Amino acid sequence: MRRTVLISKHIYQEAVDQLIARVAGKDGLVCQLTDRIGPSLLDSAKGLRVVSNVAVGFDNIDVSAATQRGIIVTNTPGVLTDTTADLAFALILGAGRRLGEAERYLRAGRFNQWRINLLTGWDIWGATLGIFGLGRIGQAVARRGRGFNMRLLYYDPYRQSEEVERALGVEYASKREVLRQADFVTLHCALTPDTHHLIGPEELALMKPTAVLVNTSRGPVVDEAALADALQCGGIAAAGLDVFEHEPAVHPKLLTLENALIVPHIASASVATRTRMCCMAAENMIAGLQGQRPPNIVNPEVLD
Ligand code: GLV
Repeated sequence: MRRTVLISKHIYQEAVDQLIARVAGKDGLVCQLTDRIGPSLLDSAKGLRVVSNVAVGFDNIDVSAATQRGIIVTNTPGVLTDTTADLAFALILGAGRRLGEAERYLRAGRFNQWRINLLTGWDIWGATLGIFGLGRIGQAVARRGRGFNMRLLYYDPYRQSEEVERALGVEYASKREVLRQADFVTLHCALTPDTHHLIGPEELALMKPTAVLVNTSRGPVVDEAALADALQCGGIAAAGLDVFEHEPAVHPKLLTLENALIVPHIASASVATRTRMCCMAAENMIAGLQGQRPPNIVNPEVLD
């Protein structure tokens, strides 16, 4: 039997009505992390059987609402792990060594002589890296940190086995100790009610004034206004951000701060990885519509 699938365009919340109108009568929806898939959309798509998200994170989808309606949800884990870890490390390096600021300085024609204290930053090699969330991406960042001879601390509500900790060379610590001791804090947790504003004013106050915060997870994991204040008043030294609390909007203060290195949600954006993500989403969709178990099902209980 012929099935119809809607492949969403890259649209944001305000276009949700448009998506609701277009999904009616479709069997499948291939969507992106910017599409909000909630009960009203699911109810308007009566025959919908599969929602295939082209992303590893699926906080944009109300999975329990989909499960209640018997709809399969899938994502694209694994293929973007190293590409995302590369970008996280690029932000660690770039924010620590003030690369955005240095490039703006040079392009503005201000480089008229070498100076001993020109744009001095913070060493990455040998520093302490604090990792929040030691899943696939957190582990890939840890491996990169090891190459820079960093001390690796991590916090995760689920502690890894001793073998994994030993193989990665990571030490488990409380959230508070990671924040207090780390020179670089990098976030790799999923966005859930528990991780919303995981980093807020109190957490920022625990960090060293020389510390750098890097976020490639989801914007709302960080209280962006509190971060902007901390960066402005010297509470912490710098931040490297790929994601934003109200994406695509960026807190206006961050746009003016030299010590905020900000990029537009590109962590998985290599040609090869984005291509693999699209293929994976298509494979998940085809399997689901053919009545097979999709390789990357998020809500397997829906098949029970
Ligand atoms: C990107 O942010 C993803 O979740 O794949």
